[in-house]
Amino acid sequence: MTGTSSHRSRILMCPPDYYGIEYEINAWMRRDRPVDKQAAAEQWNRLRQALEAAGAVIECVPPVAGLPDMVFTANAGLVYHQRVILSRFRPPQRRGEEAHFASWFADHGFQVSELPREMYFEGAGDALFCGETLIAGYRIRSNARSQQLLGDVLHCRVIPLELVDPYFYHLDTCFCPLAPGVALYFPAAFDDYGRRALAEAVAELIEIPADEARNFAANAVVLGTTVVTNTGCPTVHRRLRDRGYHPVATPLSEFVKAGGSAKCLTLRLDGEEAALWKVKAAVNAAGAAQTAAPAGVKPATKTNSADSSAAK
Ligand code: ARG
Repeated sequence: MTGTSSHRSRILMCPPDYYGIEYEINAWMRRDRPVDKQAAAEQWNRLRQALEAAGAVIECVPPVAGLPDMVFTANAGLVYHQRVILSRFRPPQRRGEEAHFASWFADHGFQVSELPREMYFEGAGDALFCGETLIAGYRIRSNARSQQLLGDVLHCRVIPLELVDPYFYHLDTCFCPLAPGVALYFPAAFDDYGRRALAEAVAELIEIPADEARNFAANAVVLGTTVVTNTGCPTVHRRLRDRGYHPVATPLSEFVKAGGSAKCLTLRLDGEEAALWKVKAAVNAAGAAQTAAPAGVKPATKTNSADSSAAK
């Protein structure tokens, strides 16, 4: 999907028309702390504008009534070149999203692959390339087995890391690759092994202080040297500026109520900035080699999502 003529970043978002706190599936969500819909719409639009100002092209998947978390497109799947490995949500409340995302990807020229049924995998929320390596978070949402399978499927090294703090339940809440070999992270979200594994895999780790981690500093959208986060992350922004990045703050408090922020609201369709395959694909724009799906992962059959919404 790395266009031969276009070099603009492509990001998938989902308008927050049906967004709200209708259930509690992570430590942040409380039904008695509802969303201000108007404020959420404004914050979402401002995020979109900030990303467009940084040069991104935004594509939107239509929102679906009854699927309030569909705004968090990071969880749609894991994009790799022209291929997407679809998520298999652990919370039943989000499973209705799978068919809608599958249709969108199929309609937009992606080869859609599915993991076996018994696996849990929540897409770019739990799997992020840093250089050649896929760093993957497991236990709270995705499981380690699905991530090992991804390594076989994509022929890449996977480092599965256990997430130990329920407030940092997806990898993208505590780890953010900025470039091959450079990442932001919140150490307390990992165990000793995880911290050691990260230190070995990523040459430069920039620490996020606890208060800013809780403001979702790790949940950043990286576009070139621009890094877009929620407000309330001054130390991280200073650390980024010291290294030549251009941090941008945009308010996302209405989405923090659901346990999400800037990164969760986006899915990079042309490869994350830190993914070495993106860099290589850009150099070799002649087209990505398509590999056949190995055993265990099958191409999705095209689903008709028009009447399969979980509207309740
Ligand atoms: N309420 C959503 C959930 O619990 C938030 C998802 C945030 N997404 C993310 N990539 N961290 O699934």
